[in-house]
Amino acid sequence: MDTLPHPAPTTLGTGAGTPLIAATGLAFQVRSQAGEINILRGVDLSVASGEAVGIVGPSGSGKTSLLMLLAGLDRPTGGTLSVAGHNLARMDEDALARFRRDHVGIVFQAFHLVPTMTAIENVAVPLEFAGRADAFEKAEEALVSVGLSHRLTHYPGQLSGGEQQRVALARAFVAGPRLLLADEPTGNLDRTTGQHVMDLLFGLRERFGTTLLLITHDPLLAERCERQVRIEDGRIVSDGAR
Ligand SMILES: Nc1ncnc2c1ncn2[C@@H]1O[C@H](COP(=O)(O)OP(=O)(O)O)[C@@H](O)[C@H]1O
Ligand SMILES: [Mg+2]
Repeated sequence: MDTLPHPAPTTLGTGAGTPLIAATGLAFQVRSQAGEINILRGVDLSVASGEAVGIVGPSGSGKTSLLMLLAGLDRPTGGTLSVAGHNLARMDEDALARFRRDHVGIVFQAFHLVPTMTAIENVAVPLEFAGRADAFEKAEEALVSVGLSHRLTHYPGQLSGGEQQRVALARAFVAGPRLLLADEPTGNLDRTTGQHVMDLLFGLRERFGTTLLLITHDPLLAERCERQVRIEDGRIVSDGAR
């Protein structure tokens, strides 16, 4: 496990050899009425650009919390974290929002589409946010690439679970993120539909050379990643890279 030096500035090098994700001693603690809960207790993780990592571990072990930190949706309470050259622990909310827009696609178990927007509007959002004039053209292309050319103006409520997750996939990939984070993306789908969605996900990742972190409790799915990391009780207990 390599430990990178962490200089003070918020932007670190992104040259060859620099991992896309570099976490050392990563901690995440929350306060509750029962006192402090240590959700992540010193996670060391280095992921090279282009790698696919399956994250497995029991329910409640801290997998989703780790993903939230990597996405810049939560902030670590200890340790160091650099993603795509950005020192996430030092960035404010606006900088984190720009970081997500520019570098990260996320797919959740529960799809998280905006119910009042059509499929194409949902997919166009990240591009419109980035000020792209071609947002709707690119959104249509992305939906075509997941086989939904006939569902562009449907609302999420009018789509099956598998179709909703394909819209979420199109949205996650539409801006060409360097990092795709997926949290139990097939958890709400039947086996066949889940397999189809995962085939699409792996196909898109290959096409774009996207680094993938895939949380799953399905060992067969995790094995589609070249490396598996196991988390238990807020710590990495095994890592295929080590
Ligand atoms: N905001 C929070 N406040 C209190 N406890 C939390 C919070 N977020 C997560 N937890 C707890 O932290 C542990 C890890 O949660 P999570 O990261 O969702 O695990 P996993 O995704 O592996 O199931 C669980 O015990 C969960 O209840
Ligand atoms: Mg979870």
